Amino acid sequence: VSESLDALDPNQTPLLDALAAAAQRPHAPFYTPGHKQGRGISPRLANVLGSAVFRADLPELPDLDNLFAPEGVIQAAQALAAIAFGADETWFLANGSTSGIQAAILATCPPGSSLLLPRNAHRCAITALILSGAMPIFVSPTIDADHIPLGVSAAAIAQGLTAQPAAVLMVSPTYHGVSSDGAAIAALAHAQGIPLIVDEAHGAHFGFHPHFPQPAIAAGADLAIQSIHKTLGAMTQAAMLHRHPNARIDRDRLTESLAMVQSSSPSYLLLASLDAARHQMATDGYQLMDETLARVARAREHLARIPGLRVWEPPAGTPSDPTRLTLDLRGLGFTGFEADEWLHHHLGVTAELPSLSHLTFIISLGNTRDDMKQLVQGIQDLAQHRRPPIPTAILPPPPPEVPILSPRQAVFGRRRRLPVSEAIGQVCGELICPYPPGIPVLMPGECITADAIAYLHQVQALGGTITGCADPTLQTLSIVEEAIAP
Ligand SMILES: Cc1ncc(COP(=O)(O)O)c(C=O)c1O
Repeated sequence: VSESLDALDPNQTPLLDALAAAAQRPHAPFYTPGHKQGRGISPRLANVLGSAVFRADLPELPDLDNLFAPEGVIQAAQALAAIAFGADETWFLANGSTSGIQAAILATCPPGSSLLLPRNAHRCAITALILSGAMPIFVSPTIDADHIPLGVSAAAIAQGLTAQPAAVLMVSPTYHGVSSDGAAIAALAHAQGIPLIVDEAHGAHFGFHPHFPQPAIAAGADLAIQSIHKTLGAMTQAAMLHRHPNARIDRDRLTESLAMVQSSSPSYLLLASLDAARHQMATDGYQLMDETLARVARAREHLARIPGLRVWEPPAGTPSDPTRLTLDLRGLGFTGFEADEWLHHHLGVTAELPSLSHLTFIISLGNTRDDMKQLVQGIQDLAQHRRPPIPTAILPPPPPEVPILSPRQAVFGRRRRLPVSEAIGQVCGELICPYPPGIPVLMPGECITADAIAYLHQVQALGGTITGCADPTLQTLSIVEEAIAP
């Protein structure tokens, strides 16, 4: 296949075709998986999933190439993806963006170095630091008047760069669809000779229509990681890592890191779904996104006419994803959690992310006109039960503490659970993240302050949830009794 990479045609689906052929080839299978193309599968599972999926659930057979040393159909499928997503090189990921972000950090931030990252980075970035031993340098994201984290400003990154990190990680777009100024931040990182890694988990569709923010690689990011499964047509867990042509990245370290954090038995169902999703976008991406954008725009118009409902918008001039819809329900007298329950249980509409005041919906190429009607109808029905408005509950989170230990020293140290009141003044042994706003208040290695605990209790009292820690009721906290050596 290597010789024929020049002749790649976006209409082809090399990996999907090879998998289809292998699934149909009559043979006696003496290899994993044990169900042998479905013949040994539980009838209950076959009843739910059908048989075709198991016929194609195959391992690295000679015709199917190898994800960790691609020179056949995976190499061709990845090369086609690089063209479609505007990258120099693309790696398929079968363990989500989680694995791509971890590999990117492991490849750039050795033990003893540091990574500049926003406080609301996904937890996989923190687990990468636990694995690598590097130190976090946190940048606070801008937070809007509604308590929703926006992107990070170039000024905040410039300030963080004075601490001489080994790399910069940026989350763009955020869960609420807000992008940061990738070009400005890439220029700042590159001026210091370090790479910019972009967690673009929620922005896989950006390159296919001009009404979306600029994709990270086009803005100059060295690496960008996209959950193709989140907003495009791939199966859950299927993601991609893209590399810029001038990336300041040691490619060998990157491929080594990818093999460290991914399964040695990547699912070909997931990998083939990436090939198919790329094909769909390479051939019909503009049209599909245009239709999706039109559906969202119509729904937004209808929603804007519902008295008491506010359709959330980021501050004017902030690049954002119109397909990410966030509704402020306080004017209808509902918390986001209550509205989510009502919509899910009684009105046949299921959202992505509820919070205290808001409810966020992911709208993608898979949403039909009927879905959109149901969404508008559901909110209209909810508005029929309008109650007195809920007072605004905005709590500014306490500023992050300077870590005492690296996340690795804390997590691999000797830890103990203490009643929360006794944990104040100790070093935290776990990550504690309240929703809203989804910004961790305590990271492993940071000092547990009375302010941080008071804040977490306030979020709980308002109906928010605490995630990331072993005891989400927050009666106990894990503290570090004895750290490992740096
Ligand atoms: C911002 C962000 N980054 C990374 C991830 C991890 O992506 P994946 O689920 O594909 O591993 C998520 C998942 O929710 C996310 O929201």
